[in-house]
Amino acid sequence: MKLIFLGPPGAGKGTQALGVSSRLNVPHISTGNMLRAAVRNETPMGLAAKKFMDAGKLVPDEVLIEMVRERLSMVDCKPGYLLDGFPRTVEQAEALEQIASPDRVINIAVPDECLLDRLTGRRVCGKCSGTFHISKLTDPGVCPVCGWTLTHRDDDQPVTIRQRLKVYHEQTAPLIGYYEGKGKITTVNGDCPPEEVLASILAALE
Ligand code: AP5
Ligand code: MG
Repeated sequence: MKLIFLGPPGAGKGTQALGVSSRLNVPHISTGNMLRAAVRNETPMGLAAKKFMDAGKLVPDEVLIEMVRERLSMVDCKPGYLLDGFPRTVEQAEALEQIASPDRVINIAVPDECLLDRLTGRRVCGKCSGTFHISKLTDPGVCPVCGWTLTHRDDDQPVTIRQRLKVYHEQTAPLIGYYEGKGKITTVNGDCPPEEVLASILAALE
């Protein structure tokens, strides 16, 4: 299965991808996680990408398309993939058609007014990749799954979140129509508890 998760920042793409990729036995490929790893490792690409990410803007298409082309050529992608955060522009979607056309697209819909709180309250684990909201944590600094230190993403500040939402509406939301035209997209309600979102996604994939 070649699957895409589409949705605004904070829709729950990463949260849902963990459960869905293990069920489908395909790798979870988050371009945001790949870029953040490149930033941490201070690679030339990571250093160039950081400027865009910190400003809440998209990293240029040619960088992302090459990164995804290389990742999808790896042997673990033979059974398929779950792409989270790619494509984000029509140009990226057109490139993906040439690399490995997706079978299905799940659009996780959440109203903008819910997203600011989700993102300002998000804490992430650098070890197990767990994603949590501070309201659900007894200790906001410690991962409840593996005990590692939790951090707040650099781009989860209110000003940057507003910019990311603007970019989403201008550049990424048109992909909903793009995949409707191909008859591949299902929209699920992401504004309900995570277990309900997962159930809707699995039902859509049956
Ligand atoms: P990326 O890392 O992809 O960020 P994003 O798309 O903005 O999405 P997020 O990771 O913020 O949200 P999510 O949907 O994964 O939500 P999550 O599950 O964490 O990209 C970052 C940057 O990299 C971009 O801005 C850009 O600069 C660059 N980039 C990446 N890909 C690119 C591309 N293709 N082209 C160009 N540039 C690119 O959940 C969020 C919070 O909500 C958590 O606290 C979670 O606990 C909570 N939550 C989750 N589900 C629920 C629920 N059902 N109910 C209540 N709370 C929930
Ligand atoms: Mg994510």
